Amino acid sequence: MYPESHDSLPTRCFKVEEMIPDDLKEVLEIEQLAFPTPWSKNLFLRELHSDLSKIILAKSDAFEKRRVLGYICIWLASGEVHILNLACHPNFRRCGIATSLLEHSLFFSFKRGVRKAFLDVRGSNKEALALYKKYGFKQIGVRKGYYSDTREDAVVMVLEMESKTLLEKLFCKSQTINRE
Ligand SMILES: CC(C)(COP(=O)(O)OP(=O)(O)OC[C@H]1O[C@@H](n2cnc3c(N)ncnc32)[C@H](O)[C@@H]1OP(=O)(O)O)[C@@H](O)C(=O)NCCC(=O)NCCS
Repeated sequence: MYPESHDSLPTRCFKVEEMIPDDLKEVLEIEQLAFPTPWSKNLFLRELHSDLSKIILAKSDAFEKRRVLGYICIWLASGEVHILNLACHPNFRRCGIATSLLEHSLFFSFKRGVRKAFLDVRGSNKEALALYKKYGFKQIGVRKGYYSDTREDAVVMVLEMESKTLLEKLFCKSQTINRE
C-alpha cells in the first residue's frame, strides 16, 4: 500500500535512479493507475533489456519502505531521444517528480550529444501538455486516431535542445542531482 498523500513528502525528497527488475511490481502498480491502456509486464521487461532504452525512477526513502513514486522511459537513437512513457503515482502528483524525471532524462541525453527530444501525448492530457510546454516542447503534428482504445489523436511534440534558457535550467538542476 502507498501512503495516501504527499503531505509528508518533503519537496525533492526522492532520488532519481535507473530501474532494476525488482522495481517492476511498483512500476506496474503506478502504470495501471496512470493509463487507460497500461503497458504490460512483458513490455516493461523488453524495455529493461533493450540497449536503446532507459527507464529512470524517482524513489523515496521517506516511508517505512523505499517506494517508486514515478518513472520515465526513454529511447536514445540516432542522436535523438524519444520519451515513450512518463507517469507519477496519483498520491504524489504535483510535487515535482515528473519535472525531475524529465530534466534528468534531457540532461542525460544532452551529455550524449542528443539535441532533439520527441514525444506523443493524448490531445486531452492537459497535465502532460502543460508539463511539456513548460519545457519548450512544440507541437509539430497530429497522428489522427492514434490511440486504439479511444481513437483519440496523438499530439506529436519536439524539443530543440539548443535554447539557452533550457540549457541553463538543465545544467543548474544537474548540480542538484549530482549533489544528492
Ligand atoms: C503528467 C504527470 C506525469 C505529471 O506528473 P507530476 O509529477 O504531477 O508533475 P510535476 O509536479 O513535475 O508538475 C510539472 C508541471 O506539469 C504541469 N502539471 C502537472 N500537473 C498538472 C495539473 N494537474 N494541472 C495543470 N498542469 C499540471 C504544470 O505545468 C507543472 O508545473 P507547475 O507545478 O510549475 O505548474 C502526471 O500527472 C501523471 O502521471 N499523469 C498520468 C500519466 C500521464 O498522463 N503521463 C504522460 C504521458 S504523455
